[in-house]
Amino acid sequence: MCGIVGYIGSRPAVALLVNGLKRLEYRGYDSAGVAVWEDGRLAVRKSPGRLAVLEQQLTARPVTGSLGVGHTRWATHGEPTELNAHPHTDCTGRIAVVHNGIIENYRELRAELEQQGHAFRSQTDTEVIPHLIEAELAAGAPSPEEAIRRALRRVQGAFALGLLFQEQPQTLYAARRGSPLIIGVGQGENFIASDVPAILDQVRRVIYLQDGELCALRADGVSIFRLDGTPVVPVIQEMTLAAKAVDKAGFETFMLKEIHEQPRILRHLLLQHAWQEDTVAMPGLGLGAPYLRKLNRVMIVACGSAFHAGMYGKLLWEQLTSLAVETDLASEFRYRDPKIDPGTLVVAVTQSGETADTLAALRMAKSWGCKVLAICNVPGSSVVRESDAVFFTEAGPEIGVASTKAFTAQLMAFALLAIHLGRARGELGAAEARASLQAMQAVPDAIHYVLDRAEAIRRLADKHHDGPSSLYLGRRFNYPTALEGALKNKEISYQHAEGYAAGEMKHGPIALINEYLPVICLCTRTRDEVYAKMISNIKEVEARHGRIIAVATDGDEEIVRLAEDVIWVPPLRDEFSPLANVVALQLLAYYSARARGTDIDQPRNLAKSVTVE
Ligand code: G6P
Repeated sequence: MCGIVGYIGSRPAVALLVNGLKRLEYRGYDSAGVAVWEDGRLAVRKSPGRLAVLEQQLTARPVTGSLGVGHTRWATHGEPTELNAHPHTDCTGRIAVVHNGIIENYRELRAELEQQGHAFRSQTDTEVIPHLIEAELAAGAPSPEEAIRRALRRVQGAFALGLLFQEQPQTLYAARRGSPLIIGVGQGENFIASDVPAILDQVRRVIYLQDGELCALRADGVSIFRLDGTPVVPVIQEMTLAAKAVDKAGFETFMLKEIHEQPRILRHLLLQHAWQEDTVAMPGLGLGAPYLRKLNRVMIVACGSAFHAGMYGKLLWEQLTSLAVETDLASEFRYRDPKIDPGTLVVAVTQSGETADTLAALRMAKSWGCKVLAICNVPGSSVVRESDAVFFTEAGPEIGVASTKAFTAQLMAFALLAIHLGRARGELGAAEARASLQAMQAVPDAIHYVLDRAEAIRRLADKHHDGPSSLYLGRRFNYPTALEGALKNKEISYQHAEGYAAGEMKHGPIALINEYLPVICLCTRTRDEVYAKMISNIKEVEARHGRIIAVATDGDEEIVRLAEDVIWVPPLRDEFSPLANVVALQLLAYYSARARGTDIDQPRNLAKSVTVE
C-alpha cells in the first residue's frame, strides 16, 4: 500500500526521500509527493503517476533542505490526483502530514472542522489530520507534540504518520496505530519509513515503533512517548537484511529474480529444519509437544497467494496427522461465526505480516483464547509480534508485487510443519517421515529443472498469450496450484484466468471450452490416484477442441497424445509436486505478461501489502 519515508539530518533531504520511495515502489502506488522544510517554510511537491513524474517536477522546481517527508499513495479515498496525493497540509500550509492507513471517522471530523471554517482541498481521509492539529494548536495546545496527541485521540482507524511543522525546523514527528512504521537510527541523522527496504542502504539500526506511540526525531536523537504522554525507552535493533537483497541482481525484473531464487530458498529451509533423518528441527517454533498432542483442530487464515498455500497446507496436514484442518480467507473468516474454541490452533499465513484482514483474524482468534502460529516472511511485522509462535519462511525481501518465492516457501513451511506435527503427535512413523523428508530433498533440483526449461515456457507463452481468457485445472494437491497459476496470470498479464478443481469442470466451465481457449492442466504423475481422473478430465477438454497445455511428468507418453503443448517437470511425490509445478506456472504467467507488455513488478491497481480492509 502507501509508502512513507522521512529524514532529518544535514544531507539534502529530497534525494534521500526519493531514493527511499523508489525502494518502496514495489508496494504499488498511483501518486507521490514530498514536503521539505526550506528557508522557514514547508515546500510541497506532488504529482499523480509514477515517481519519475515527481522527479521531473523536482528537477523543474527544486527544493532544498535537510528535513522532509515523502509518500507514495495507493488510492483509497479519492482518485489518484495531485490534490489527493500526500503530503496534506492544514489551512495555512504550516503543518504537513503523510499517512498510511484509513481514518474511519473522517467524515464526521471533516464536517466538524469545516463548520469551524477549515478549508479542505482534497477528498482524502488524511487531510483531517493536519486540520485537527491546527485546531488543537489554535485551541491552546502548548506544543506541537501535545496537539498531535490530542488530535490523534479523536481519530478512529489505522495510521502511520510522518509530520512536519513550519515552526519546528529541528524536529520530525512520527506516530502509529495499526499501520507499521520504523525509525532508522543514523549518525547525526535519523529516518522514518513504512518498511525496511526504504532505508536499508542508509542505516543499520532500527526502532520498530509500537502501536499507540509518538516519536519526535531530531538529527541527534529520538524521544518516544505513548499517546497519553508516558515516555518509552527506545529498543534499537540491528537490521539483518542485506542491501543487495533489494537489488535486481542482473535480472530484468524483481519477479524474475525472485522466481530464480526459489531453489536456494527452499534448500536453505531444508538445511535449517530437515537435517535429521526422520524428524524436523523446529527449535524456535514456540509450540511444545504436549500442546501439539492435545490439539484436535486447526484453522488456517490468509489472503491472496498465502490463502492458496493454506489450502495446500490443509491437504497435507490432514494427510499426515489426525487433525481436522480448515482453511479460510481472512476477509471471510472475520465475518463468520466459526465456532472456534481455545483448543483450536489458528495459523496465520502472510508474506508481509501486515495484511489487514489476516491481522484482524489473528486478533479475533486471540480474543477467543486460541494460540496463533504465524507462517511469515518479515521479522518484526505486526503478525509476528502478535502471534504465539512463528515459522519464518526466510525468503528475503519479496519486491515483485505478485508473490513467487514467498509462496513456495510457505508451501515448504507447511510440508516441514506437517512432518513435525505428525511426529510430535505420534501419528507419523519414523519410516514414513524419512521417506517424506527424502522426497522433499528432491524439490530444489526439480525447480532447477523447470527453470532450465524457461525458454521453452517462454515460447509457449508467446504462442498462447493473446487470447481473452485461460482456464487452469488441477485436482487435490494441484487444485491450489491451479488457483495460484491463474492468479499469477491475471495479476501480471491482465488476462482473465480462472483456476478450477478439474472434477468440477463439468459443472460449469466446460461450457467455455472451444478451439481458442487455452486450458492449462496440472497432470503430474507418480503414484497419484487422481492422475487417471485428471486424464479423463483432459479428454473431456480434448473432445471439445480446447487447447490443452499440460504440466506433466517427464516421459509421460499418454500426455503427448492428448496435449497440444507440454511443460515437463521431473517426478516428485504427489504431495510435493505443487512446489515445482507452480514454478512452471509462474514462468508461463511471467512470459505472457512480457509478451503483453505489462508492468510486471508493479501491476496496475495492485499493492504488495494490503494494509486496509
Ligand atoms: C497482496 C499481494 C499478494 C499477496 C496478498 C497477501 O494481494 O499482491 O501477492 O498474496 O496480498 O499478502 P500477505 O503479505 O498477507 O501474504
